[in-house]
Amino acid sequence: MRRLFIAGNWKMNLNRGQSLSLVQSLAESLRGVSEVDIAVCPPAVYLGELGKALHATNIGLGAQNVNSKAEGAYTGEISCSMLKDVGCRYVILGHSERRAIYGETDSMVNEKLHAVLAAGLTPIVCVGETLEQREAGQTQQVVRSQCLGSLAGLTEDQMLKTVLAYEPVWAIGTGKTASPAQAEEVHKDIRSLLEAQFSVGTAQKVIVLYGGSVKADNALELLSEPNIDGALVGGASLKQDSFEGIIKAATSVRK
Ligand code: PGA
Repeated sequence: MRRLFIAGNWKMNLNRGQSLSLVQSLAESLRGVSEVDIAVCPPAVYLGELGKALHATNIGLGAQNVNSKAEGAYTGEISCSMLKDVGCRYVILGHSERRAIYGETDSMVNEKLHAVLAAGLTPIVCVGETLEQREAGQTQQVVRSQCLGSLAGLTEDQMLKTVLAYEPVWAIGTGKTASPAQAEEVHKDIRSLLEAQFSVGTAQKVIVLYGGSVKADNALELLSEPNIDGALVGGASLKQDSFEGIIKAATSVRK
C-alpha cells in the first residue's frame, strides 16, 4: 500500500512575508490530515525560517536543488548537510527547468541522488518528455532513459527511499495537463522498468508522483489512477486554497 504524497514546488516565487504566512495558514488548515504526506519546497533562502515554522507540523520541508559535494569551494551552492541542518526532509532533483535551463544531465542528477540518500534525505527525482519528443513517439524511450541514467547504481533499499515524479515538460506551467490515461500509461511503464531493474516488490512500493498543471479541479481524476501516488505541484501550490484543494482531493482517494 503506497501513501499518497503531495509536494508543492514553489520555484522562484513568493517573498519572505508571503512564504511565512502561506506555511502558517497551511499548517493550521491541514493539521488534521494524516492519510496523505505533505511537503512544501520553498526557495532556499527561506528554508531556515520556514523550517522553524513547520517544526512539529505534518508538513515536511523540501529544497528544490542541492549540490552533490559535501563542502568546499563551490560558490553559490548548498550541501545536503546544510539542508538537513535547517530541517529539510526532501530534495527535488532533476526538475525539467534545471535540466533545460541549467544543463543538468542524468549523470549530474545521479551524483546528487547518491549524495542526498547518503545524507538521509528523501529525493524526489523528476523525469519527463518534451512536446517534441511526445509527438515523435519517444515518450517511453525518453522517460526510461532518464530513469536509468538518474537512478544508476542504486541499491534496492535506496530505490525504496527515492520518490519519482513524472512531469511531462509540455504540461508544466502551461495549463495543459496530461490526461489521467496518458499519465497512467507512463507511470505504469516506470513501474515495469523498476520491476525489471529491481523487483516486483520494490516496483510496487516506490512512490511515483505526477506533475504538470495539477489543480484542485483535476487532482481527483489523476490521483485516482492506480499507479499515480500523488502530485508535484507548481503554480497551484502558491495559494492556500488551491494547494489545500489538491490535498483534500488526495484524502478522498481510496486505492
Ligand atoms: P505546474 O508545475 O504545476 O505549475 O505545472 C509543476 C512542476 O514544475 O513541478
